[in-house]
Amino acid sequence: MIKELKSLKAAVEKAVETAKDAVELEKIEIEYLGRKGKLTALLKGVASVAEKDRPAVGTLANQIKREVWELLEIKKRELTGGRLSVLGETEREDVTEPGIRPPEGHLHIVTQAIREIAQIFEKIGFMRTRYPEVDWDWYAFESLNMPPDHPARDEWETFFMDVPASEKGKMVLTPHTSNAQVRELERGELPVRMINIAKCYRRQSDVTHVPMFHQFEGLYVDKNVSISHLRGVLNYFAQEFFGSGRKTRLRPFHFRFTEPSFEIDISCGMCGGTGVGGDKQKCRMCKSGWLELGGAGMVHPNVLKAGGVDPKKYSGFAFGWGIERTYMMKEGMRIDDIRTLYKNDLRFLKQF
Ligand code: FA5
Repeated sequence: MIKELKSLKAAVEKAVETAKDAVELEKIEIEYLGRKGKLTALLKGVASVAEKDRPAVGTLANQIKREVWELLEIKKRELTGGRLSVLGETEREDVTEPGIRPPEGHLHIVTQAIREIAQIFEKIGFMRTRYPEVDWDWYAFESLNMPPDHPARDEWETFFMDVPASEKGKMVLTPHTSNAQVRELERGELPVRMINIAKCYRRQSDVTHVPMFHQFEGLYVDKNVSISHLRGVLNYFAQEFFGSGRKTRLRPFHFRFTEPSFEIDISCGMCGGTGVGGDKQKCRMCKSGWLELGGAGMVHPNVLKAGGVDPKKYSGFAFGWGIERTYMMKEGMRIDDIRTLYKNDLRFLKQF
């Protein structure tokens, strides 16, 4: 038995020494120390050794078992330690290396323009307000001095909601931001200095029109407000937003909710308002020296009345125009189709 134990130990030593990896080592462990392993079988056999020899054989058997365990453990550490040091070389992390920045988005140019416009007006006391973008006919048309069936309504190419009408008429997707005028006056806090920036919807789509766009509506109502105040505010805005050399002009026009009414033009940034391009031909951008911005006028007495304000004591002006078109008129912008703004093409959007 003692001989068998010793030759078994020698066999284990040889096998362990030549083992190349953890798998081979595990096989050796099972072969000798497993439930049906060679050493396990020998250990069981100690019970049948003659009684006088049993203590010595038992002691040796246990010692060999311990040594075999130790041999296996040492080799195991050797093999894994080697693997770790290889890993340490190939997968070493340099914690001082600069990280890779995840891609960052930015605000859409229309949002940038909205924020810029709101800030410009804030400086002269016009506070941004928000009113519904789905509103009643009363606010979008009737209170603005446009009775039912008035032809002026057709100009707005309105979308109607498929919902029951109320005492304020049908519900519409607001075709302009002028619905804010009476809503703001109804608050009953005078003077009013508001800038309402919101979405508008019209059934239009071509290079200068989109079915959903943004307008901003300015409203100033106080005692003794005149057209000079309107001109001052418009010039201030033009110079803040477009640059110090720009001017505005008012052209007589007709809106039902303002009287008198005007279209506002801004001097062209490309030809400096001369209407003549670098090639001595008509300016390609404006052809006349002026670009159309939007509408404006003195608030109609009927609108003041609809908002609960006495037109004999108060007067005011309103103006409104499109954010997208205004942005396209900035110097250096060469956007020749307004719909590009909403195509979600990153090659375009990343430029701003
Ligand atoms: C109005 O909507 C008036 N409510 C403006 C106003 C306000 C006049 C207060 C007087 C007092 P108009 O329909 O012209 O006016 O539209 C104003 C501006 O909105 C246009 O000059 C243009 O800049 C923009 N706009 C109109 N329709 C579209 C569209 N489909 N796509 C993009 N921008 C548009």
